[in-house]
Amino acid sequence: SREASIHSADNGTTGSALTLRSRAWFDDPHNPDMTALYLERYLNYGLSIEEMQSNRPIIGIAQSGSDLVPCNRHHLVLAERIKAGIRDAGGIPIEFPSHPLQETGKRPTAGLDRNLAYISLVELLYGYPLDGVVLTIGCDKTTPSALMAAATVNIPAIALSVGPMLNGWHEGKRTGAGTIVWKAREMLAKGELDYAGFLKLVASGSPSTGYCNTMGTATTMNSLAEALGMSLPGSAAIPAPYRDRQECAWETGRTIVEMVRADRKPSDILTRSAFLNAIRVNSAIGGSTNAPIHLNAIARHIGVELTLDDWERHGADVPLLVNLQPAGEYLGEDYYRAGGVPAVMAELHAAGLIDGEALTANGRTVSANLADARILDEDVIRPFARPLKHAAGLTVLSGNLFEGAVMKLSVISEEFRSRYLSDPERPDVFEGRVVVFDGPEDYHRRIDEPELGIDENTILVIRGAGPVGYPGGAEVVNMRPPTALIRAGIHALPCIGDGRQSGTSGSPSILNASPEAAVGGGLALLRTGDRVRIDLRARSADMLVDDAEIAARRQQLTEIERGITPESQTPWQEIQRSLVGQFATGAILEGSEKYQRIAQT
Ligand code: FES
Ligand code: MG
Repeated sequence: SREASIHSADNGTTGSALTLRSRAWFDDPHNPDMTALYLERYLNYGLSIEEMQSNRPIIGIAQSGSDLVPCNRHHLVLAERIKAGIRDAGGIPIEFPSHPLQETGKRPTAGLDRNLAYISLVELLYGYPLDGVVLTIGCDKTTPSALMAAATVNIPAIALSVGPMLNGWHEGKRTGAGTIVWKAREMLAKGELDYAGFLKLVASGSPSTGYCNTMGTATTMNSLAEALGMSLPGSAAIPAPYRDRQECAWETGRTIVEMVRADRKPSDILTRSAFLNAIRVNSAIGGSTNAPIHLNAIARHIGVELTLDDWERHGADVPLLVNLQPAGEYLGEDYYRAGGVPAVMAELHAAGLIDGEALTANGRTVSANLADARILDEDVIRPFARPLKHAAGLTVLSGNLFEGAVMKLSVISEEFRSRYLSDPERPDVFEGRVVVFDGPEDYHRRIDEPELGIDENTILVIRGAGPVGYPGGAEVVNMRPPTALIRAGIHALPCIGDGRQSGTSGSPSILNASPEAAVGGGLALLRTGDRVRIDLRARSADMLVDDAEIAARRQQLTEIERGITPESQTPWQEIQRSLVGQFATGAILEGSEKYQRIAQT
């Protein structure tokens, strides 16, 4: 059992006969020159030859927090407890920085840097004498980039979430990070707030250290890391400042040493079953539409077959159980008090929707981890029999606009349905006139121009926002209506785009369209004034433009492409553009997936 192995780890040098990878650097009698070279510099801050050659696992701590990454900055504090756990279990911690990846701070978009953080971490894990690694995760892309790298290298790895911020409050009401921005913008547009009041209201949603306290991409990806089995059960939801978070850091440090001794690697945990579990959990938590991009990317790096269709097939019918903003009303602290991920998984498990045999980081199965899990507050986490929404997963659409795009069915309101219904006999078919924007700058510049004729039956389209077009892909598809329309009470228009959408927004959008306009996808052919039809039953989305006209427009495609694809501003933008794939298949650096399990080579 894990208990027993941790105790046996307490005396440091005992344990399995496993040859540690780090021995090749630090203790190779056949190669004294290199051993001396590798060893001597790690002694210069106080490590001793004795401990470096005592067969103790060398454990990396991939530090994602810094002053540049406020969401993960608390990991600088937690690292001390991780190190204590590693030492207590007989390992030697070595902390190193990973590429900074702050969602709100990086331009043109943090999406550009996910794959950069990935290749950088692969190089570090492969090239240095590490037997195992603690991945410190939190802000949106820090989680997938770290799990992708651990998958490629395949040394024992465990993720530690930094945890969400405390709940935000304003005048007695919960204000959620990110989500409050949409409301504050509306109030600013209506003149109910001035500039200073706007900034203050937005800041109220971020009251402490930690990541977004809403069910945005961060809470989603940290929850899914736990659902995948890559972090300790119950760990994802603990708010960053809570003392439980420190305890969890210590426990994570102890566990990774045991994982190295047991040679428990990402390939043992990240099985197809684990991914299907995570897809179902994503529906039940109301997870971000960024989740398919990231999970498909992790799957490709570990060599598990996972497609967009799996998201629809296994996730679409799963009900929404977690009542967190933006879909619901509560925030991160409430999620933790209600039981967090284990409570959600226990409900799904009882409904037969979780493979309980899947192995997790602590060496136990999902079923064993869930033995005592239950919901502690049924307002915040609903029982399976009394969900917030039925069929809360993603649907995958295709047609002459794109081969694949995702949509959250649960965000389509009745009021919205009635505005776009083209035929009362066919309640699943919607139609509207489109207004097309070429990238985020164009949208920001023109959205309030009256000549565009945007009304309550318009569909907004943005292109040039995909992994190639706006390198890395911009979180812009959730466009706000023109100010005049907001004043008239129209809060959201349906949006279509080849970019992503912030996980903290709740507007009805069709996103992640692949292939994107910049590589010749159908969106490149669309023009303002065209009509688009969406048939939810047929799962199709098409421009109502005849084939001859489509062919004629395709003749001019290169020009259109050139018009919507900005020049690269940095070397990495150019490199990423030349290698990156489409959102539907994870937007990874194509070709990198052939490097698998490289720690064993
Ligand atoms: Fe970092 Fe939301 S911006 S978690
Ligand atoms: Mg985001």
